[in-house]
Amino acid sequence: MPVVGVLTAGGDCPGLNAAIRAVVTRITAEPGGEVVGVLNGWEGLMEGSVRSLTREDVRGILGRGGTILGTSRRDPYLHGRGLADLLPTITAAHIDHLVVIGGDGSLRTAARLADEGLPVVGIPKTIDNDIAGTDYSFGFDTALQVVSDAIDRLTTTAEAHHRIIVLEVMGRTTGWIATYGGIAGGAEAILVPEEPYDLSELAARIRRRHESGRTYSIVVVAEGVPDPSGTETLAGVDAYGFARLGGVATKIGPALERLTGYETRVTILGHLQRGGTPTAFDRVLATRMGLAAAEQVLAGASGVMVGLRGSIITTIGLREGCAEPRPVPASLLADARWFFA
Ligand code: F6P
Repeated sequence: MPVVGVLTAGGDCPGLNAAIRAVVTRITAEPGGEVVGVLNGWEGLMEGSVRSLTREDVRGILGRGGTILGTSRRDPYLHGRGLADLLPTITAAHIDHLVVIGGDGSLRTAARLADEGLPVVGIPKTIDNDIAGTDYSFGFDTALQVVSDAIDRLTTTAEAHHRIIVLEVMGRTTGWIATYGGIAGGAEAILVPEEPYDLSELAARIRRRHESGRTYSIVVVAEGVPDPSGTETLAGVDAYGFARLGGVATKIGPALERLTGYETRVTILGHLQRGGTPTAFDRVLATRMGLAAAEQVLAGASGVMVGLRGSIITTIGLREGCAEPRPVPASLLADARWFFA
């Protein structure tokens, strides 16, 4: 019976603990099945930070946000010598098979390790919902609920003051959160990285709306859209050298105010979208993915990740599953446009 290492890497999202709980529950149900939790993502394997995880250790965590294992954006290839840096911990902890719960970057790292011979199974997670190998990643539904609630609240104050409110949400290369959140909240416009936008055209549309008596507008903006001059808005660099996005709404808001003449306010939701308790949908999805990944391990599979296609949990090669960020389809953006006015 293999000893299974499990780690959570990259940005956290609601549902990580539900996935860990499922992996541990399924693996330890096998006679002799053992799970080793790796702390703080790849960093734990690079530095020897691990702990054993029993069924008792994962009781009561299903609905808890964050991850009991901790996470980081440290990467063995970008910040070290790759597999060679992980082998001492893998050997010392007797890990035979690794379950990597990560976004596209961490899953690409997992694919590379699998190519080098490390037995690895991936579980996709991200609030951004942009991983090619799955229709939905857990964390997305919870983030969406936060955005939808925020728009409900922003709408009443925008309406009372006859204002435009520009709401910035997460989404680096794709606009899944902006699109679904904007549709759920009834936004007047949704700006996403998948489509260029024309601020003068948007301003004219908003003016027509306000002149016809609807004297408020909510504009949802994904953090990854270019600013009005066509430049990405960077908020700095994180501890691992990765660019941080954020703040494009502070450029779009004043520009819209100038173009329309209507008072405009800006709200940036930031990490509120990533924190807190997962929705029931995310708990179920993370649980199903965790169980499916454990089954893959027990079957001896490597270089694969689990995913959701329709309502079925599937498996796909890691390379294929995280090759490209999955854009919002044009048809969904067109659906949203029926309600822009
Ligand atoms: O990748 C998920 C994500 O939530 C992005 O949407 C966002 O740009 C980024 O993480 C924020 O990362 P951090 O927590 O490092 O600021």
